[in-house]
Amino acid sequence: MSTPIVELKAVGKHFRGADGSARAVLEGVDFTLHEGEIVALLGQSGSGKSTMLRIMAGLIQADEGQVLYRGMPLYGTARGIRMVFQSFALFPWLTVQKNVELGLEAQGMAPDERARRAAKVIDLIGLSGFEGALPRELSGGMRQRVGIARALVMEPEVLLMDEAFSALDVLTGERLREEILELWQSGQIPTKAILVVSHNIEEAVMMADRVLIFASDPGRVRAELPISLPQPRKAESAEVRHLIDKVYELMTASAGRRGSNGLISEREVKLQLGDRLPQAGIAHMEGILELLAEEPFHGHADLPKIAEETELTDAELLEVLNALILLGFTYLTNGDILMTELGGQYVKANNTERQELFGKQLLEHVPLIAYICHGLQQDKSGDLPEDLFLKLLRFTLSEEEAERALRVAIEWGRYGDLFEYNFNTGVIQRPELTPKL
Ligand SMILES: Nc1ncnc2c1ncn2[C@@H]1O[C@H](COP(=O)(O)OP(=O)(O)OP(=O)(O)O)[C@@H](O)[C@H]1O
Ligand SMILES: [Mg+2]
Repeated sequence: MSTPIVELKAVGKHFRGADGSARAVLEGVDFTLHEGEIVALLGQSGSGKSTMLRIMAGLIQADEGQVLYRGMPLYGTARGIRMVFQSFALFPWLTVQKNVELGLEAQGMAPDERARRAAKVIDLIGLSGFEGALPRELSGGMRQRVGIARALVMEPEVLLMDEAFSALDVLTGERLREEILELWQSGQIPTKAILVVSHNIEEAVMMADRVLIFASDPGRVRAELPISLPQPRKAESAEVRHLIDKVYELMTASAGRRGSNGLISEREVKLQLGDRLPQAGIAHMEGILELLAEEPFHGHADLPKIAEETELTDAELLEVLNALILLGFTYLTNGDILMTELGGQYVKANNTERQELFGKQLLEHVPLIAYICHGLQQDKSGDLPEDLFLKLLRFTLSEEEAERALRVAIEWGRYGDLFEYNFNTGVIQRPELTPKL
């Protein structure tokens, strides 16, 4: 095994929710980044990937466990570890050159040395000719190049990239990713290890020597897939497609809280009242169900095939699939998605029947929605403020997630004709109380 550079040992991190209760975002995270490797980190939104990177970058501190850099405890930021963020955190009033020089300036490097180092990196990353430009004069792709240049100019031995390509259009993102790989392979940058967080499974498989899959609640490393294919890799090759298949399998495994046999049974995905809900809109759920019913799938599809047919990102697709599984419309076996009888019934039904069927599944499978309905039944006036439910959710979820879970519950419940919602007052009502137009 090659030399470890950064080691996380049983790292834990808690954040306080709105009610003051602590919530574990990371728990027992063990991870070692070695010299010479690119590792990709995949996981659902909110699973703590960015938090883990910020801990590795020394931007925030772990509450438990140890972070070692070259065998020594990491205190604060280290010169040798740099992070590239998804958003282009550039200073708008500084030129490209000055933005790139900033970190060197903070180190107290002499102006001419700074300028020399910055010019070299600006050239490497394809920004020559734009030295004097202001960020707003650049395209998104160019701005992200500045962000990367700003990290590279510090000559870090560890580069942490948090969805560095995801705000870019697909082609620009791919090109930039390939260029970074080239710089890395040709040894033009002194970087010794790279950790990338991605929402794109293909990107992870194309880049990495090792793919880590993060589990949520609390975040921890769930599975690991070594990738020994030589670079450059071909996205269409059978080997790459097979690996993408495998990653899907591992990711849905962690999403569905299932056993190791590859099957999600209804029993095992049973939600609790305070659980987060898959962030899936009705239109997307119906779209995927209909797609699945059609030629050439006929109710049985390989996950990557479905992914190819939709415009959803991998992360969005997983949310939609989780929602469909949760509600009993589909299930997963060995990375394949299969439609249940109920799913087939749904696709064939007319709109009213669909809503009815959906509502019935919600009551059975989503405790939050059943709880809201029960509350509305009990209440004489038949309407309740949403805050009531938000407060409840905040016992187990962060403020942001509580909000998200309630938004989903409201969208689903309205569609299932279980309750109405007044967008002006934030009041949830029994449906029969809302005059139908
Ligand atoms: N400073 C903070 N205070 C409170 N909660 C936080 C803070 N930072 C992150 N969290 C919470 O920690 C959880 C993990 O967040 P994190 O950003 O690490 O997830 P992520 O895996 O990077 O998600 P995404 O894929 O959406 O970027 C989330 O529930 C988030 O709301
Ligand atoms: Mg993140």
